[in-house]
Amino acid sequence: MDISPFRQRRLSLLAQMGEGVAVIPTAPERLRNRDTSFPYRADSYFHYLSGFPEPEAVLVLVAGKGGAAAQSILFCRDKDVDKEIWDGFRHGPEAAPEAFGFDAAHSIKEFDAKLPELLADQPTLWFSLGHDAAWDARITAALNAVRAQTRTGKRAPAAIRDVRTAIDEMRLVKDGHEIALMREAAAIACDAHRRAMRTARPGRYEYEIEAEFLHEFRRRGSQFPAYSPIVAAGANACVLHYVENNRQLQDGDLLLIDAGCELDGYASDITRTFPVNGRFSGPQADIYDLVLDAQSAAIAAIRPGATFLDPHTAAVRVLAQGMIDLKLLEGSVDGVIESEGYKRFYMHRTGHWLGLDVHDAGEYKEGPGDDGWRVLVPGMMLTVEPGCYIRPADDVPQAFWNIGVRIEDDALVTTDGCDIITDTAPKKIADIEALMRDTTHA
Ligand code: GLY
Ligand code: MN
Ligand code: MN
Repeated sequence: MDISPFRQRRLSLLAQMGEGVAVIPTAPERLRNRDTSFPYRADSYFHYLSGFPEPEAVLVLVAGKGGAAAQSILFCRDKDVDKEIWDGFRHGPEAAPEAFGFDAAHSIKEFDAKLPELLADQPTLWFSLGHDAAWDARITAALNAVRAQTRTGKRAPAAIRDVRTAIDEMRLVKDGHEIALMREAAAIACDAHRRAMRTARPGRYEYEIEAEFLHEFRRRGSQFPAYSPIVAAGANACVLHYVENNRQLQDGDLLLIDAGCELDGYASDITRTFPVNGRFSGPQADIYDLVLDAQSAAIAAIRPGATFLDPHTAAVRVLAQGMIDLKLLEGSVDGVIESEGYKRFYMHRTGHWLGLDVHDAGEYKEGPGDDGWRVLVPGMMLTVEPGCYIRPADDVPQAFWNIGVRIEDDALVTTDGCDIITDTAPKKIADIEALMRDTTHA
């Protein structure tokens, strides 16, 4: 593993802190049911700064003061040959510093005793309160242990600042290591979507198509799906968070698949919608091309200097006009946008930040009001995912009933626009139909 990106991020955070001590715990292991754990995944913030994969670990960063060098200290599980027979390798405090570039490491058993020493006479504690009650209590106990020593001349930190807020700003702009991983996560998921287009046909089940994704993800080294895959045929496509994936695919259904993988912590997030029988019907093509046009308008709005809201605004305008043209809505495009009438068929946002978390860290606004939306800069990664979902209703043309379409790509903001890193999954109608006709690789 190349540890230099992680070290670089720690140094960058330490420089931003200027002073004080940061405490960043990893995620706990979680039971799924008796004696069975969920697969372990490190906390995203902890991983971002350490790359250390084991549970029961805490990173402590001590900013240098008075000429002293800054320090990165890991607390982790001890080596334990008996436990390693059952649960696998542990670095232990002896091997972790060299393997991950920490200045020092200690047993996690010493953490509660050492933290008050590390906090004494420091002006600021950088910790993110309110995410885990047990951690909040642990931190409070350490602060009180320092306060109890005030008569011996020790001072507890006077300020507590949110360390996640500082890391969020860093995570918003991806470094080269992150971009390379995200491109690979995107490539794997694109190939899985191509595989789904080749193998879907009437009579198969949604879960069989889901299995194609899980197989492609895992055989390419992805550790997990980035989220529960949505494989939604027919009317299920109009259920935004559908995850049952148990319907039999019918001739005439559209199949909406929202599935991406996680590779070394980084997510891809892709949606494609295609006809199970390989041919879009007229009404399906009408809605599909409307959503594709909306996505093109949104992508054209992604560039440095634009705001996070601009792609959404562009997509909504195209969708609103199309909904009027297709007689889903009445009125003028400005009226439909003003009244938010389009939300009946397009009720979600056009994108979100993407990174270690599929809905990634980072504020969307820098200030109040519509002027406050964050300005895009190169290195940001966001999804572009307009959709149109039409439930049966008396005032809706019957030809469109139960059609649900979403098209979702992942965009890297570049110096002069954006790079769609998921464009090897076809999305033009002609390209999808051509791929589905080509069963030579099915
Ligand atoms: N797959 C989650 C999302 O599209 O936001
Ligand atoms: Mn998304
Ligand atoms: Mn998605």
